[in-house]
Amino acid sequence: MHIISFASGKGGVGRTTLVANLGVALAKLGKRTLLLDGCFETPDLALHFKLEKAFYTLNDVLAGDTSLSNVVQVGPEKVEIAPAALTLEQIKKTKPERLSEVVKEIDKKFQYVLIDTPGGLRRDTVAALRASSETILVTTPDMVAVSDCMKTKLIVEFLGIRLKGFIVNRVGNEEFELKTKEIQEILNLPLLGVVPEDDSMSEAIRKGIPIVVYKPSAPAAQAIFKIAKKIGKS
Ligand SMILES: Nc1ncnc2c1ncn2[C@@H]1O[C@H](COP(=O)(O)OP(=O)(O)O)[C@@H](O)[C@H]1O
Ligand SMILES: [Mg+2]
Repeated sequence: MHIISFASGKGGVGRTTLVANLGVALAKLGKRTLLLDGCFETPDLALHFKLEKAFYTLNDVLAGDTSLSNVVQVGPEKVEIAPAALTLEQIKKTKPERLSEVVKEIDKKFQYVLIDTPGGLRRDTVAALRASSETILVTTPDMVAVSDCMKTKLIVEFLGIRLKGFIVNRVGNEEFELKTKEIQEILNLPLLGVVPEDDSMSEAIRKGIPIVVYKPSAPAAQAIFKIAKKIGKS
């Protein structure tokens, strides 16, 4: 089982969007895939799917009030999704550190577990990283995001988690953007793929349908399928 955390120092670079779409793309390749929303303070993975209002969430699993099987919902291509809670009451009682234990109990039928990891370097970030066996860094082609990724890379190395590589998202090929080659020189990690800036992305999110299902021919969807193939091979 590959347990992969999707991390970045900075928010808004596309971690959640990539977890949702790569999850569906991996499932489409026939890989049994589970997505965990590790962003307990800003949970928004569920917004990418039209899910039923959850009675129990991952927060309740961490609190020991229920089991993961009561939380998981099925999305496109039979990808399975464990949303986190949206209410302040539930968020407050959450112990992110328990995520590692919960992950250990995941059904072995799953080949891939993707964890949407919060930005920053707080305890919930570290908890999501620790629960994983590999990390993929996500950045946009700008210095702030790349430099924040460097900080995350150091933490990941410190925790002894394997760095699988990085993805550059929202690439518009504007003159002011960092080139992928420059980013690779800074991060010094394998490049897993480049996802272009795509107007259809926000449309897909508004509809609650991942772009790989909503508009599979869109350039961002095509790029995501390519990355999924790469991840699925390892
Ligand atoms: N390739 C893309 N093209 C256009 N917009 C994108 C792309 N990837 C993500 N976005 C947009 O960027 C915003 C932030 O993405 P999100 O996945 O929530 O980032 P994070 O989880 O890293 O905070 C979202 O509104 C999403 O619509
Ligand atoms: Mg997010």
